[in-house]
Amino acid sequence: MVAMAYTVAFDGIDARLVQVQCAISPGMPGFTIVGLPDKAVSEARERVRAALSSMAIALPSQRISINLSPADLPKEGSHFDLPIALAVLAALDVVPHEEVSDIVALGELSLDGTLVPVVGALPAAVAAVDCDRALMCPAACGAEAAWVDAVRVIAPASLAQAIAHLNGRGVLDPAVAGEVTQGSGARCLSEVKGQERAKRALEIAAAGRHHLMLVGSPGSGKSMLAARIPGILPPLTPVEALETSMIHSLAGLLDAGGISRQRPFREPHHTASMAAIVGGGRGAKPGEISLAHNGVLFMDEFPEFPRAVLETLRQPIETGEVVVARANAHVRYPCRFMLVAAANPCRCGYLAEPARACGRAPACGDDYMGRISGPLMDRFDLRVEVPPVAFTDLDLPVGEDTSARIAARVAVARAVQVARYAGQAGMWANADAQGAVLDAVATPDAEGRALLLRVADRFGLSARGYHRVLRVARTIADLDGSDPVQRQHVAEAVSFRLTLTKEV
Ligand SMILES: Nc1ncnc2c1ncn2[C@@H]1O[C@H](COP(=O)(O)OP(=O)(O)OP(=O)(O)O)[C@@H](O)[C@H]1O
Ligand SMILES: [Mg+2]
Repeated sequence: MVAMAYTVAFDGIDARLVQVQCAISPGMPGFTIVGLPDKAVSEARERVRAALSSMAIALPSQRISINLSPADLPKEGSHFDLPIALAVLAALDVVPHEEVSDIVALGELSLDGTLVPVVGALPAAVAAVDCDRALMCPAACGAEAAWVDAVRVIAPASLAQAIAHLNGRGVLDPAVAGEVTQGSGARCLSEVKGQERAKRALEIAAAGRHHLMLVGSPGSGKSMLAARIPGILPPLTPVEALETSMIHSLAGLLDAGGISRQRPFREPHHTASMAAIVGGGRGAKPGEISLAHNGVLFMDEFPEFPRAVLETLRQPIETGEVVVARANAHVRYPCRFMLVAAANPCRCGYLAEPARACGRAPACGDDYMGRISGPLMDRFDLRVEVPPVAFTDLDLPVGEDTSARIAARVAVARAVQVARYAGQAGMWANADAQGAVLDAVATPDAEGRALLLRVADRFGLSARGYHRVLRVARTIADLDGSDPVQRQHVAEAVSFRLTLTKEV
């Protein structure tokens, strides 16, 4: 007798449907799982056997074969326990075949039959909708999975509850979606005294999703400024929230099934490993750059990151996705983030203050910033020097330009962009504009063009630099409420581009 259950295998944020076939046949008693299972999947048989015996269901003294189909797709993780148990139970006629094959199941079993939460309930729910089935997952994952529209989520707390539900003896109500968690009350930008230019750069970067580099002496407020970026970003759109949450779901980061409308803000330490930052390692998990998808990746003390890590960022910055390679497959994760980097200008940090700089200035500055390669530096649209704060500035009352006000201006500029790029595949904000679309929306008026050409010629802008200036100028014009990109918009964009550039 062959019984079928369904589950998923994760391939990046995609969940691919897997059929769990169970055959019980005469022969040497045994329990085998085939179909490229990893260690956690192979161990499922011990957990399933113990969970069933805890409910006084003994496995027959026959040969039990489980095949996970398609057989050439690698299966990883502990979430195969529940579908394997259900396939066995259907083959034993403990639960009806049709009920089992009508759901996509995932969940880990403990030895007493309790269902333990697993990662990836949200992408699994999307896959369940695609194949027109309900989703069965552990109770703790129900709130997360129920976020997907049109999915019916059954979230039993134990295998016994799952069996009762399938047999119609204890039908469970569908799970309801978790709370939308609001922002954690990001601190206000007005607390940062002075640093008007840096604040302006933050506003432009947030409005157009441009990459930003802050360079300045120790204690000038760089980390403080960056930490306040979440407070000026617009909330995630529902589509973005789902996309970002799918990645967080795979990393097991969704608290109590709540989906956050706040853009992610990730700040990996410079000692983090390559796998932690770009993704990979066991199970090819998403890294910090993917967890920052649709949000901010803040890399404090940027030159202190290992060179290999910094160089690896170059390609994901351009394409908005990263390919994590592992022995037998390539996993693709989206990573459209806004990169914010902070750095001291040199090792001692006081290069800009002749009275305090060390004896090696200015060579130490070149050495230190030289750790950031030219092509990587080229990807920063906005570069700002953050000077030491004057004591007189620190005495000033809290400024009027609060995060809420800046956020309102940013939201207006973003709304203009959303309307502008509607229908353009792969474009959401000015930073994404490419090719003919970029030419059409960002070509400046005659005066602006003349200025840009002069600057490009005088300072030897790269082709990428030229296009990045155009995108930033477009954002500045949007913040200004101007349809054409004018000379002053180009001039401001250029001024941010040329800071810290050797050519000046
Ligand atoms: N512009 C500012 N307005 C108000 N307080 C400031 C400002 N700049 C610095 N401070 C004070 O100095 C502290 C340190 O600032 P912060 O950590 O942001 O400096 P930093 O530029 O990141 O320094 P480092 O280069 O050492 O990392 C802040 O917690 C705050 O108390
Ligand atoms: Mg700092």
